[in-house]
Amino acid sequence: MSTIALAPQAEGESLGASIQQQIATVVDDLIAQLPNPEHLTPEQRRGIIARYSAVLEGNFIYWMTAAYIAVKSDEVRPILAENLFEEVRDAHPAMLRKFTVAANAYPSAADALATDEELARVRLFLGKLQSVQSVLTMAFFECWIQRFMAYLADLAGAQGSREREYTDVHGVCDVTHTAELFRALTLEMAANPISPETDLFEGVDLLRNLIIAIVRGPAPVAAA
Ligand SMILES: [Fe+2]
Repeated sequence: MSTIALAPQAEGESLGASIQQQIATVVDDLIAQLPNPEHLTPEQRRGIIARYSAVLEGNFIYWMTAAYIAVKSDEVRPILAENLFEEVRDAHPAMLRKFTVAANAYPSAADALATDEELARVRLFLGKLQSVQSVLTMAFFECWIQRFMAYLADLAGAQGSREREYTDVHGVCDVTHTAELFRALTLEMAANPISPETDLFEGVDLLRNLIIAIVRGPAPVAAA
């Protein structure tokens, strides 16, 4: 292979590495902002688990499927299919529900509706089926989930639960999932270049806002 033939690939990989670094910074920032579980009330701890569960249980597979539908590269589709295969075969939503119920944090209507606006924005964004932005959003999601697992386990522990299958599995498998999704991103960017005016981080910003809403919860009701 000539140097000329390698150049665009090398350029794509370098751009991919730079984007991955930016995502790592966003995730670091989100993790650094997490409140100490010991400084939270039991209701605040329950609320974070409940809102996380309300968003993740019904949406993760749906959103990964949206990215799968959106991609144009034949090399990328199997990477996303492998992720979906594991989710479905190992019934990750069932694992999450078991974790949430064990922590007495199964979401109420108020928990589910507390992130309604932010959730709808992410859904509408993924509905636009923009391949590169969708894959980047899911790579960010995997990266954040993997880093969030230890905290989620701590919250459940403080609520008296010892159920750890969900957090143990996702603290490990999402390391590979994140790496694979960043590989998918580089491949999709090569197959389907985005124009310079495109906001590559549109979905990342919306998902970041949703994550902040999961952790923060509803605004306190003002005293009458
Ligand atoms: Fe999962």
